[in-house]
Amino acid sequence: MEQFPQLPPQQFLPRHIGIIMDGNGRWAKQRGLPRSVGHKAGAETFRKIATFCRDIGIPYLTAYAFSTENWKRPQEEVDAIMDLLREYLDDTAKHQGEDVRTCFIGDREPLAADLREKIRRVEEESAHNRTITVNIALNYGGRDELVHAARRLAREAAAGRLDPESIDEKMVSNALYTAGQPDPDVIIRPSGEKRLSNFLTWQSAYAEFVFLDVLWPDFDQNHLCSALWEYARRDRRFGGI
Ligand code: IPE
Ligand code: IPE
Ligand code: MG
Repeated sequence: MEQFPQLPPQQFLPRHIGIIMDGNGRWAKQRGLPRSVGHKAGAETFRKIATFCRDIGIPYLTAYAFSTENWKRPQEEVDAIMDLLREYLDDTAKHQGEDVRTCFIGDREPLAADLREKIRRVEEESAHNRTITVNIALNYGGRDELVHAARRLAREAAAGRLDPESIDEKMVSNALYTAGQPDPDVIIRPSGEKRLSNFLTWQSAYAEFVFLDVLWPDFDQNHLCSALWEYARRDRRFGGI
């Protein structure tokens, strides 16, 4: 039995953790390695952290893997990230017994057909798993998500199936990729950057933010625990007193 670091009591743990997996490139650079090696190390960290979240009873985890802005990177780097995702998806079959439901959030349209098919299969095969839902944000942008939601609601209204005056926050939430899931309670960003970079724009309205100086490939269970302690100590008021 693996020894876990000391966690805050269960009632102070978040229901939904968001992680911006940042710092892979700098991690590789520090070692004189190509950036793709940093992404590979980052993918391994992700698998470990997702398993740890499941083991400690976190029901939802959303990890930012590739943003709508990340297409600006050199083609070689984009290709390396997409190949790692293919590997991750192929590998997921081996983890079937772990009761992880894997979902993808983001715009799939521009992805390669084989990658879309792998995503579809993993989502379908893991749909009945319940212990944890792991969302992988791929070609995800919070603004892009809202644009798609607006288009969807506008289409319904134009077809006469929706009264524009009846649109409320719940309806907007339900038009997002995360429909039906709770908002993130805490968003953790390693790497030292202190920004959201278009992650969960709508959903993070009342999230707590924890920024850590570690680079993502070096992020381990102890870093997660220290972020969870920091979260547990926060006083969340949601506009009340
Ligand atoms: C995060 O690491 C992974 C992706 C954005 C795909 P980075 O590649 O952004 O690493 P840094 O920020 O350059 O160190
Ligand atoms: C955010 O990291 C996106 C992911 C981690 C996938 P970036 O490295 O792309 O963010 P910026 O460019 O530093 O804001
Ligand atoms: Mg970065």
